[in-house]
Amino acid sequence: MKGWEPKIIAFLCNWCSYSAADLAGVSRLAYPSNIRVIRIPCTGRMSPKFILNAFRHGADGVWVSGCHPGECHYLEGNYYARRKFALLKNFLEHIGIEPGRLWFSWISSSEATKFVDMANMVNDKVKALGPAKHLIKTRARV
Ligand code: FES
Repeated sequence: MKGWEPKIIAFLCNWCSYSAADLAGVSRLAYPSNIRVIRIPCTGRMSPKFILNAFRHGADGVWVSGCHPGECHYLEGNYYARRKFALLKNFLEHIGIEPGRLWFSWISSSEATKFVDMANMVNDKVKALGPAKHLIKTRARV
């Protein structure tokens, strides 16, 4: 689709990936503006319902990023998140959502270039899939 940009919701951990996004901005590193950031206290706080709701409300892609394993501010939050995400990814695939619509990453606060690379990669992969067709209750406004 010419001119179409995917709606991507990024849930970023306050202590690492959100700071990496901030550092990318301060460093004037550009990343796709159609990625909408939601700051979360820790990936361990992420409920699978947040991801399902994003898809239901019209997101074409969802990206969750947190602290590297072993570096979670709350010690084990990202380990719990990793287990939840593995199950959720299988579930989403089972109900027809392409695996390329949901992404997870671990990015520390000093990794602005990794953040930008990941943002571009997520955007490219979701864009290649086209608009989401499953689960949508309402279209997201970006
Ligand atoms: Fe960042 Fe837990 S504090 S993932």
